[in-house]
Amino acid sequence: MASALLVPVRQGTWATLRLIAFVRDLRPEQRAWSAPGTYGSIEQTLGHIVGAEHYYLYRLTGEMPSAELKPASTVDLADLEERVRWCSDRLERLCVQGFDQHAPTHRNPGDPRMPTMGGMVTQLLCHGTEHRAQIATILGAHGVESPDTSGWTYAEQHPPAMAELAAEPPGPLPPNPWDAHAEAYQRFVRLREEADLAVDPFVSAMLSSLGEVTGREVLDACCGEGFFSRVLATRGARVIGVDLSPRLIEMARERQERDGAGEDPIDYRVGDLTRPIASLERRFSLIASHLALNDVADHRAFARVLASLADPGARLVLALNNPYSSLVRGHIKDYFENGAIGWYAGMAQRGVKAHYYHRTLEEYLDAFFAAGWRLTKLADVWPGQNDLLPAGTSFPYGLVLAFDMPTAGDVSVRR
Ligand SMILES: C[S@@+](CC[C@H](N)C(=O)[O-])C[C@H]1O[C@@H](n2cnc3c(N)ncnc32)[C@H](O)[C@@H]1O
Repeated sequence: MASALLVPVRQGTWATLRLIAFVRDLRPEQRAWSAPGTYGSIEQTLGHIVGAEHYYLYRLTGEMPSAELKPASTVDLADLEERVRWCSDRLERLCVQGFDQHAPTHRNPGDPRMPTMGGMVTQLLCHGTEHRAQIATILGAHGVESPDTSGWTYAEQHPPAMAELAAEPPGPLPPNPWDAHAEAYQRFVRLREEADLAVDPFVSAMLSSLGEVTGREVLDACCGEGFFSRVLATRGARVIGVDLSPRLIEMARERQERDGAGEDPIDYRVGDLTRPIASLERRFSLIASHLALNDVADHRAFARVLASLADPGARLVLALNNPYSSLVRGHIKDYFENGAIGWYAGMAQRGVKAHYYHRTLEEYLDAFFAAGWRLTKLADVWPGQNDLLPAGTSFPYGLVLAFDMPTAGDVSVRR
């Protein structure tokens, strides 16, 4: 189950945001309108929709926003809008990660109701629809036409995911989209970080393949604004993070300065990992790269450069979007077209308009084999569902690959 739910979830968010925008243009006395049989005034009802969604989300994920939304007769619409987006981000994440619909929700000692995850999501969606309809009733009772928030209109304005995802923005490709969208990407990473990293499918599979990192020096290849470097550093690793984007490296350093570096500050460097880096040659016995391989323009040079930075016997662990998922997500049309450009849809919705390079799994593995790496583990991670897959099926959106660099004495492998 799961991502088929994205459409109704997004429709709910869109509808509530539409109503908030509409109410913003009403006079204060209009916002206080009510009608028999409804929850309360227009403003109170909006506050109630969002407050209830916070609660449902808590039951679904165990997470609550930092500030409580107290029931009030007037509400701060900008704050409400923020909260709607906060909820929607988390809900979408839940849908994409998938969940067991029969599993119980988080307990609330003050609430004897014990819905299942599926029941809670149903309640969340129904509750929003019901109260938005009440606002339409109130407006109608006062002779004001409410904005159209129906599923029909949503569907018309938001064509199916396949077309949306496959559409390429016009114009030439930017050389490194991550630099141009660094701020939006940082916000995206923040969301990932706020979730429970212990259950992040990529992070746990990577750490398990890397083995003990405490006290070890690790290269975080294509470290971006430092997400995985921080994961490693908090586990006691000494980390060197290299990335092509000067802006992301600047952000990584700023964040480290803000948070305070530990005993071993992460050494962030701007660098192109598809060109030799003499100063780091043969330096690492552990190399990690989190969700970057798909974004490197020259994957063969990347595999070679990482090999040149590795000690004999080194381990390399790469997390990537499963190449087969390019097709399942509707990003590309021909799986066999190495180098086809795909566009990240989820990130585009958050302002990161980044392309990636599709390559077949065979092409990726060949590139690393040719550079001398030996595959030791392939982990299928991030199970999910998709509009394009039959209901009830599950598919690994991600892969974690582990390679070793054979030592000179290892006769089983040709370099
Ligand atoms: C999707 S981001 C992932 C960043 C980070 N690993 C994370 O998980 O947040 C992909 C990163 O690859 C970097 N990148 C792409 N090509 C590169 C290259 N040739 N050398 C170094 N970094 C590169 C980009 O600048 C970008 O930061």
